[in-house]
Amino acid sequence: MNKLMASLHPLERKLLPHLKENVSFDEMVGKSGMQEIEVMRALQWLENKGALKINLSVQEMVRLDTNGENYRKHGLPEIRLLKELSSGEKCVDDLSLPKEEVSISIGALKKKAAIDVAKRNDRLFLSITQNGKNLLEKESLEEKLLKHLPIELSHMSPEQKFAFDNLKSRKNIVRLEVVKLRTITLTALGKELSKEKIKDADFVDTLTPELLKSGEWKGKTIRPYDIKINVPKISSGRRHPYNESLNLIRKVFLEMGFQEMTGPWVETAFWCMDSMWIPQDHPARDVQDTFFLDRKGDLPDAKIVSRVKAAHENGLNTGSTGHTKKWEPEIARELLLRTHSTATTFRYFFEHKLNHDCKYFYIANNFRNEAVDATHLTEFGQAEGFIMGDNLSLADLMGFIKEFYAKLGITKIRFKPTFNPYTEPSMEAHYYNEKLGKWYALINSGIFRPEALAPYGITKSVIAWGMGSSRIAAILTGKGKLKDLLGPEVDFNSIKKHERVTTQ
Ligand code: PHE
Repeated sequence: MNKLMASLHPLERKLLPHLKENVSFDEMVGKSGMQEIEVMRALQWLENKGALKINLSVQEMVRLDTNGENYRKHGLPEIRLLKELSSGEKCVDDLSLPKEEVSISIGALKKKAAIDVAKRNDRLFLSITQNGKNLLEKESLEEKLLKHLPIELSHMSPEQKFAFDNLKSRKNIVRLEVVKLRTITLTALGKELSKEKIKDADFVDTLTPELLKSGEWKGKTIRPYDIKINVPKISSGRRHPYNESLNLIRKVFLEMGFQEMTGPWVETAFWCMDSMWIPQDHPARDVQDTFFLDRKGDLPDAKIVSRVKAAHENGLNTGSTGHTKKWEPEIARELLLRTHSTATTFRYFFEHKLNHDCKYFYIANNFRNEAVDATHLTEFGQAEGFIMGDNLSLADLMGFIKEFYAKLGITKIRFKPTFNPYTEPSMEAHYYNEKLGKWYALINSGIFRPEALAPYGITKSVIAWGMGSSRIAAILTGKGKLKDLLGPEVDFNSIKKHERVTTQ
């Protein structure tokens, strides 16, 4: 037995004995007793295995239509009219032909000068001419054609074609049917397979526990799984490459020993700003930068509020003079969409009483009242994080940043000093995009100021950052711009086909 035979699907096996050179699809359906769809599938699978080739062609069949059937039996109406007239002149009203056929026939016969029409006393009289008598002597091309239908259009003789052209403009005599034809050509392999003497009973298609127990499978050919079989593609769901990128960032943090934080999107100004020593008259608190809600929230317990107030007004116990301005609790109660996730960092300082070696991160969505354009949206992703420990320095921060990005495959970075109200020193890292030939800001970071940490009783040092996670996602997915990854301009198919975002 041919090796391939064992792996054939039962439908393929069933069809095999009926495969012959140029056999038509209808014939295969008829002879095999299979359904059309089954034959189609079996043929496609066999074609994939190189056993045959499916040939598609189109056939145009000329067939009799309803009137045509009638005329084949009883003759064309104009010929019947001529025959009636051959016994002498007749008045139109006395003809045996149905009315609607009379006028068509008169038209056709007049064109051939086969009849004479006379009008007397307002009545029409018809008589046959010599030409008409000649016509009656032999069968017309149209009559001959009716007898021979159906015929394939491309096989018609010139006379048949002429008659067909005459008849097709008349009502329901002939019709053209376009038939799609499938035939097959067998390859050498196909010929070999089709000659095999096979019985379904010799095969086991699914090895079940019952067959194993009964031993009935013994001596039979067991069909192996064909993992290359041609099955319809199922469009399954997948994670969006943007989310895959965020997960990758999460994975790197977790691998580096970080714990994940989470916090509210709607915050009080207290947690978003006051808690970290952003002065109450800082421009970032303006409606131009921040989305405020039309209601106020609650402040945390009085003790922490008074310590934060002291840090603002006099520097608490840090040796700093503070902002030397009165701190207003009402301003701190404003509710807003958080403008950065550092709000959550300070909640964690307070709620988890942190003052030990630890590392936290948070992949967050934040909101700023920005003019929306190709690279700016009002909502943006940030990966926030901090490391708390003893004597952490700018060198530690640079080391972390370098190592973190290296794990994501981002190696060309440089550092630049910057300013934040709550860190000193503050530092940005920029990344060089080879494709676009440009440096982009990737991270804003620093060492938290004593005035920001003192209210929480933190005596350890804290290095911290907020990185543009959306930008990292754009880099990781190889999209130059975020708008190619998120938003209405994204090509849905390219997202579907996008390869998985990994660092390996
Ligand atoms: N909150 C800063 C921003 O939104 C990032 C940052 C976090 C900077 C922590 C320093 C320390 O850009």
